[in-house]
Amino acid sequence: MEQVLKLRNLKVVFPTDYGLIRAVEGVDLDIFHRECVALVGESGCGKSVTSQAVMRLLESPPALIRVDALEFDGRDLTQCTEQEMQEIRGRDMAMIFQDAMTSLNPVMTVGRQIDEMYRRHNGDSKKEAREKTVKALELIGIPEPRERANSFPHQLSGGMRQRVLLAMAFACMPKLIIADEPTTALDVTIQAQVLKTLRGMQRGCGTSLLLVTHDLSVVASIADRVYVMYAGKIVEKAPVKDLFTSPHHPYTVGLMAAVPRLADEKKQFTQIPGTVPSPVNKPSGCYFHPRCQYATERCRQEMPRLKPTGKDREVRCFHPLSAGGEQQ
Ligand SMILES: Nc1ncnc2c1ncn2[C@@H]1O[C@H](COP(=O)(O)OP(=O)(O)OP(=O)(O)O)[C@@H](O)[C@H]1O
Ligand SMILES: [Mg+2]
Repeated sequence: MEQVLKLRNLKVVFPTDYGLIRAVEGVDLDIFHRECVALVGESGCGKSVTSQAVMRLLESPPALIRVDALEFDGRDLTQCTEQEMQEIRGRDMAMIFQDAMTSLNPVMTVGRQIDEMYRRHNGDSKKEAREKTVKALELIGIPEPRERANSFPHQLSGGMRQRVLLAMAFACMPKLIIADEPTTALDVTIQAQVLKTLRGMQRGCGTSLLLVTHDLSVVASIADRVYVMYAGKIVEKAPVKDLFTSPHHPYTVGLMAAVPRLADEKKQFTQIPGTVPSPVNKPSGCYFHPRCQYATERCRQEMPRLKPTGKDREVRCFHPLSAGGEQQ
């Protein structure tokens, strides 16, 4: 399968007054053609920093970035100038952020903002661009798209604004879209609709998608493969079905237990005990050991490596769990 993104050994450090923040510690990521890959983990684990580094949007300084390989569509992004990166962003690689209000220009109609994408990247005339914009708005489920195109962002609901961002991201048929918490600010029903639209557009356009989220229920409904991240490291990687039927890392199990399910309403959903470690003062050994019920002396001393556990699966744990949730 054609590889769209190849990231090897990404390390990002922020020097601060309190010490070095090791935000990302040696992350590898692969995304193939037409794939939706999810990057999940609790707040502060380094998901956004990873995705920004992929787009080369991290400001350095303050960030200190090291990477062994960052290849997109066969191109070595580490060698691209800022001008080349600007061309790649928006045309070949687009980004959807959590908060549509800050991503959209408040004083320009949403129609014009989408028009601009077509005009800039395809060289379309005003009229051609507007026709495409109206079609795009229709496709993402905005009623009366021609009229709606003349609305300003504040005149639309949160769900509609997020859909406008989707329309903008897909306008140039990019090879890869990076969506960082694209539905977190929306309420649950609207979230489901926007995700469905995103999934439909992704499949329809043949785009690959990197979905960044802390919410495993979002992952279940849309992703093909999942990377679980904890305190700057990937701790588990698996196809989505395998991950849900048999999570191997105790952290993944904890994340899953925290997802409320309609089916077992009575079951109280549990939380992982403790909190994510301070990024300037991470524990010895496996970063998860202070919160892990299976931790042994070895886990307190030694950082486990990512090890293959099956087809397309890897886990960073000395005591991975098997299908029934039992320790191996
Ligand atoms: N510009 C910066 N300067 C210093 N530290 C930073 C900077 N940007 C991010 N960090 C730190 O890097 C770590 C990872 O942050 P990141 O934003 O990637 O987390 P995240 O997984 O996206 O979390 P969330 O789910 O809350 O969005 C955090 O400890 C954060 O405080
Ligand atoms: Mg984030």
